[in-house]
Amino acid sequence: MTGAPNTTAYNAQMTTYEFSRISEFIEGNFGIKLPAQKRIMVQGRLHKRLLALNMTNFGSYVQYLFSEEGHLKEIPVMVDLISTNKTNFFRESAHFNTLTDVVLSEFVKKNYKSTLKVWSAGCSSGEEVYTLSMILSEFLEHYQSFNYKILGTDISRRMLEKAAKAIYNMNEIDGIPLVLKKKYLLRNKNRTIQNVRIVPELRHKTEFAWLNFMDQDYKLNQQFDVVFCRNVLIYFERAVQEAVLQKILRNIKPGGYLFLGHSESITDMNLQVTKISPTVYRKTK
Ligand SMILES: C[S@@+](CC[C@H](N)C(=O)[O-])C[C@H]1O[C@@H](n2cnc3c(N)ncnc32)[C@H](O)[C@@H]1O
Repeated sequence: MTGAPNTTAYNAQMTTYEFSRISEFIEGNFGIKLPAQKRIMVQGRLHKRLLALNMTNFGSYVQYLFSEEGHLKEIPVMVDLISTNKTNFFRESAHFNTLTDVVLSEFVKKNYKSTLKVWSAGCSSGEEVYTLSMILSEFLEHYQSFNYKILGTDISRRMLEKAAKAIYNMNEIDGIPLVLKKKYLLRNKNRTIQNVRIVPELRHKTEFAWLNFMDQDYKLNQQFDVVFCRNVLIYFERAVQEAVLQKILRNIKPGGYLFLGHSESITDMNLQVTKISPTVYRKTK
């Protein structure tokens, strides 16, 4: 017999104090700013945690969150729920034309037979990584000496798991041109399940790792030719954005490229870059 739903958990209100404990922790550790007007949103996103943990109020939740056990177990879950992971295939698609027309054509001229290293910084569930992979594989057909590798990083373990599995529902693949769908997606063998998986040839060129932009050292041990860091910085304060971009730039080769989201601007920041187009930058030497 199933019990009555725990409506107390769903009616629980987050006090200003409880919200400030959570928002200060999130901003301090992950950079994501949560101003007072986000309290109801945070409350809504965390209601199901009260339910899962059999709690009836946010006071108990906050106490658990900052306990030794909560630190280990609950913080990763909370970060998953609080971070905004919206993404889609071929998002801001003009960037992929710039990648092919400017970056790749220059790369093959200069670096014949070397591997293009790409980093999708804040990759969410992997759609940006596999979009890049499709574009780069198309390019590879014309320049067989060319090769590429893509690293996707994020703070959300749930999103990284989804990205590594590379399985997407039919409603998530709308943005992919039909010809690329036919080439790079595999339908589930069980036709009653409406999903697809990215082909192994693309998956094998990708890798995913947990990385927090707030860390002092990203410990990547490699430099990239191209970095996509799109629709991530908008969640940070301006000073944090600049500090994060400086650290990202340390991991870009001189002459390498940085792609930002269309609503992200670096005007007045002290960064060693030149502008190629409104949201594409080249690292100066
Ligand atoms: C809105 S998604 C953008 C996904 C993709 N880049 C795009 O443009 O479609 C933002 C991602 O940034 C990640 N993120 C937020 N704060 C972060 C941090 N401090 N370090 C690493 N990733 C972070 C979130 O978990 C989320 O998956």
